[in-house]
Amino acid sequence: MAKQQKSGHLVLVMFPFQGHITPMLQLATILHSKGYTITIVHPELNSPTPSNHPEFTFISIPDKLTESEVLDGDAANLMLSLNKNCAIPLQQCMKKILHQKDSHDHIIHITAIIYDTLMFCSQTIADDLRLPGINVRTSSAATLLLYALFPHLDGKDSTLENEIPELQSLQLQHIRALLSQNPTDAMLEVRNAFTEGVRSSSAVIVNTMDFLEQAALSKIKEHFPAPIFTIGPLHKLAPTICSSLLIEDAKCISWLNKQAPKSVIYVSFGSLASIGEQELIETAWGLANSKQPFLWVIRPGLVRGSEWIESLPNGFQEGVGERGFIVKWAPQKEVLAHAAVGGFWSHCGWNSTIESICEGVPILCKPFFGDQNLNSNYICNVWKVGLQLQNKLERGNIEAAIKRLIVDIEGEEIRKKAMDFKKKASLCLQEGGSSCCSFNELTRHISSV
Ligand code: UDX
Repeated sequence: MAKQQKSGHLVLVMFPFQGHITPMLQLATILHSKGYTITIVHPELNSPTPSNHPEFTFISIPDKLTESEVLDGDAANLMLSLNKNCAIPLQQCMKKILHQKDSHDHIIHITAIIYDTLMFCSQTIADDLRLPGINVRTSSAATLLLYALFPHLDGKDSTLENEIPELQSLQLQHIRALLSQNPTDAMLEVRNAFTEGVRSSSAVIVNTMDFLEQAALSKIKEHFPAPIFTIGPLHKLAPTICSSLLIEDAKCISWLNKQAPKSVIYVSFGSLASIGEQELIETAWGLANSKQPFLWVIRPGLVRGSEWIESLPNGFQEGVGERGFIVKWAPQKEVLAHAAVGGFWSHCGWNSTIESICEGVPILCKPFFGDQNLNSNYICNVWKVGLQLQNKLERGNIEAAIKRLIVDIEGEEIRKKAMDFKKKASLCLQEGGSSCCSFNELTRHISSV
């Protein structure tokens, strides 16, 4: 028997990767605090831990993914398989919920289905069941816009620059990298389905802040009929939730406590990116030669062909001694908020980007794939709160870039700008701030649908 609260019952559909699970659980937590009953439907892959969130009902649906689909790194194929395999189980699951009764023997209503943009099959199911579908973009608004504009882009890159002045300062090569010059059929199918989902949804929630993406947001409003709610940064609204798929190593906080203010370079490439052995070696020497203290997340699987840190160069750890700390997974939000952290060398995943911005930590950008290239360009060329690690991973470049970001006078402007952005981000969440107002409008919208 399900509980039914007075604000309504929301079913959230999750896309099963760390960078998506976390913001979805944060959103669920915030909505629950406003009185909504929350059911979370998730594929079997990377299942969240229900005991960490006793206030929600979790329902796992079969995803029938094969090991090779999960491991071969073709994101578009994986998304297609997930949506294809989950569509029927998701529909059955919704129907089952709709036939349940609450403790007063009343039929359970679903107020809305709130789904990750990448679980686009949810919108069709919402339409079939005549339920409102609310789309959640866990990445930037600009990516949403670029995918929506993509059909108009073919061979006419100048259209893009004219349409979004903010993008003029970005390098078109990076926009092309995001959109991919020669998209596969699977990529095009995903983009179409994804954009269609957004187009037919009753509302779109974006984990961003108005001041970061004003131009892209106003352009989006021309392309999508649904109201857009910019309620980020979600992690500041639901700071305490536990959503890591890997165990966070809290020992790094005691180590950070012993470091000088703003001296540490924190290095993490998120949950999916990988590097080769030689890149690991160059990174290690770059960090060692920078002479700055460093906290380095080496996730199992980060180095292709290695279990963990066995390919670090001989003598590296002894050489850096107490000046370096390596973990498999860090409590990243706590790390970025720590006074000792002076810079974040990041892959520029969207969550890492906004977590860093919220703490005023300047970013050294080394994007790997997808939206990371675009985020990195915003960081360096539009917001100017970071700098790009030029060329390939090479110890000399790394050493120079770290010094520039954290200590050299050349990095002063970037460090100042990063602190300015921290203030702006915190204003968004205060009474009357853009995200606070947008969240209130979202709850009014949910009541009205
Ligand atoms: C993926 C894509 O790579 C990214 O481009 C897209 O924007 C979102 O989906 P991921 O690579 O995991 O995400 O990066 P990111 O979006 O930065 O999310 C990583 C999350 O893991 C962050 O919330 C971060 O705080 C957390 N994290 C990371 C930790 O808690 N500990 C760590 O050691 C590293």
